[in-house]
Amino acid sequence: MSEKAVQNRIEELTTKLNHYNFMYYQKDTSEVSDQEFDHLLKELEELENNHPDLKLPETPTARVGGAVTKSFETVAHKTPMLSLSNTYNEEELREFDERVRKALDGEAYEYVCELKFDGVALSVSFENGVLERGVTRGDGAQGDDITTNVKTIRTMPLKVFSDEFKDFEIRGEIFFPRSEFERVNKEREDIGEALLANPRNAASGTIKMQDSKVVSSRRLDCFVYALIEDTGVVKTHSEALSKLKEIGFNVPDTFQVTSSIEGVFEFIKNWEKKRFDLPLDTDGIVIKVNSYAQQKKLGFTAKSPRWAIAFKYESESAATILEEITFQVGRTGAITPVANFQPVALAGTTVKRASLHNANEIARLDLRVGDTVFVEKGGEIIPKVTGVDLSLRKPDAPVFTYLTHCPECNSELQRKEKEAVHYCLNVNECPPQIKGRIEHFIQRKAMDIDGIGPETIEALYENGLVKNPADLYDLKFEQVIYLDRFGEKSAQKLIDGIADSVKMPFEKVLFAIGIRFVGATVAEKLASFFKTIDALSNASLEELVNVPEIGERIAQSVKDYFSIPENVLFIDRLKAAGLNFEYKETISVLDNKLDGKTFVISGVFEQFDRNGLKDSVKVNGGKIVSSISKSLDYLIAGDKMGPSKLEKASSLGITIISEKEYIQMIGGSLD
Ligand code: IVH
Repeated sequence: MSEKAVQNRIEELTTKLNHYNFMYYQKDTSEVSDQEFDHLLKELEELENNHPDLKLPETPTARVGGAVTKSFETVAHKTPMLSLSNTYNEEELREFDERVRKALDGEAYEYVCELKFDGVALSVSFENGVLERGVTRGDGAQGDDITTNVKTIRTMPLKVFSDEFKDFEIRGEIFFPRSEFERVNKEREDIGEALLANPRNAASGTIKMQDSKVVSSRRLDCFVYALIEDTGVVKTHSEALSKLKEIGFNVPDTFQVTSSIEGVFEFIKNWEKKRFDLPLDTDGIVIKVNSYAQQKKLGFTAKSPRWAIAFKYESESAATILEEITFQVGRTGAITPVANFQPVALAGTTVKRASLHNANEIARLDLRVGDTVFVEKGGEIIPKVTGVDLSLRKPDAPVFTYLTHCPECNSELQRKEKEAVHYCLNVNECPPQIKGRIEHFIQRKAMDIDGIGPETIEALYENGLVKNPADLYDLKFEQVIYLDRFGEKSAQKLIDGIADSVKMPFEKVLFAIGIRFVGATVAEKLASFFKTIDALSNASLEELVNVPEIGERIAQSVKDYFSIPENVLFIDRLKAAGLNFEYKETISVLDNKLDGKTFVISGVFEQFDRNGLKDSVKVNGGKIVSSISKSLDYLIAGDKMGPSKLEKASSLGITIISEKEYIQMIGGSLD
């Protein structure tokens, strides 16, 4: 290809992919299948690698990350990022309204009410329509240049096509969508990493990470709430929001224009409970005078605009007595302290427990058993202990001393360097670790063994039948039938479920065996790269690190795992039981009937078993996703599916189809 031809192709691919991205994330429309998209992206990536000078600043390859920011450069904001003054009650809001009315001297005015999103403030400038720079708030006058990471936010346009807006700045709030936060934490739990504390902190930590690949994998989002531009084409804030949405920014639909302070109160009331249904935490609302001319008239104080104010919902807080601090031991031996208090009503539910995360948190709060503690559930759904009422503390209340020994097996705890969490290192004998490993092994994402839950694992363990996941494959019907709550049918189901699991592919087995830091995705990468467990276990640290997306920490953990004789023995037993330790290329698409459409399957089916149905979707060119979101195309509903899934899907307007309808869709018949 000539240089000119390459340049044309790069331009064409960049424009096309940015357009598909815009349609997908902002208009909820897939114009191409995922395969086609990935294929084009790969082509672009290769062209860019071979011709770096032809790469365009708005290239969609920036979405997947890759670039590393060694240190974030400090840059000055063109327009300072001010904060808002806060109000907490109706009276203060009426006073604000009075001030506005006076300053506007009898003119009519409107307010825009918005939710106050609890994330990380961001400013992004565009030059000639192209995303130029993303900067954190910093101290309001200058912040950190986080452009590379901002480009991984899928809903942030890298280039806008607008005749009206070319050089402008937007302001918005970066956030960790709740579902994404839960996904990442579940994944971290699975691989024994410390959990992220809350979505807000996780968002602010993530956006300042050096490796944009990790940032990209966390799927942050950004709600846009302001436009700064000086052509004067837009006259009001609400118009700006609508136009920003039109040209591709993620402006939430939750804003509302009202012409009176009474309308503001209605908005506040309306969102008091509904805000918990949003994908992120909100801690109040923001009220802004709509007209830009009037905003100008009102002006600023030193710190904040006179034309806007925040109203904070009272984060519900209650005082209760801390009765006990207990400790949970996880699969990896991590110890989590838990505050147990007298049950207390909070934001519609009764709470009696809250995680205290680690020893540092107990020390920070200086918690003592018997203390009157404040428990809060604010914009966040999870309750937390926020402080102690020291005036009520008994003078002789002893300082809480942290555990030194495991509450389950009594072996001495250790705290690894630079980690806040204590660990029990008695890996092979500590009961919750043993049971946790079995639970990890049988879970749906791993060996997907039907007929076992935590209670069965408990019973199998207590009766000395299973101490190691490999023992499952030695279980006999005659042993299971004698367990409490087991009958012939359930015992057989369990035995069959275990026998059936030997069919699971290597990547699932590799995830199931529970190597620290090897989550489902990493297992898939390692399995497809090394092909066999023997090649993986013999790989050097260097070879491991050379696998795309495998870092030193994972590599070291894999190495450590295979250096422990018990683990090698365990794998030998699984091999003897017939589990797969060789990688087979996954199903290739045979037909494109489903054309990249996404599916969630839930419940039990008549014609297919779960895995069979998943495979069917894949060979027909569809894609299985794990959770219901507004971009989902179909939910295939089987028998006994949970009502919450059904409710969520219907509230998002997802097409729900039966197994029969699915079969018709792929052109099959039921005979
Ligand atoms: S407007 C000059 N609108 O709250 C006014 N801010 O205390 C600029 N925030 O740092 C802010 N949601 O990060 C505005 N709908 C919203 C907001 C919002 C959250 C944050 C923002 C800012 C802080 C102001």
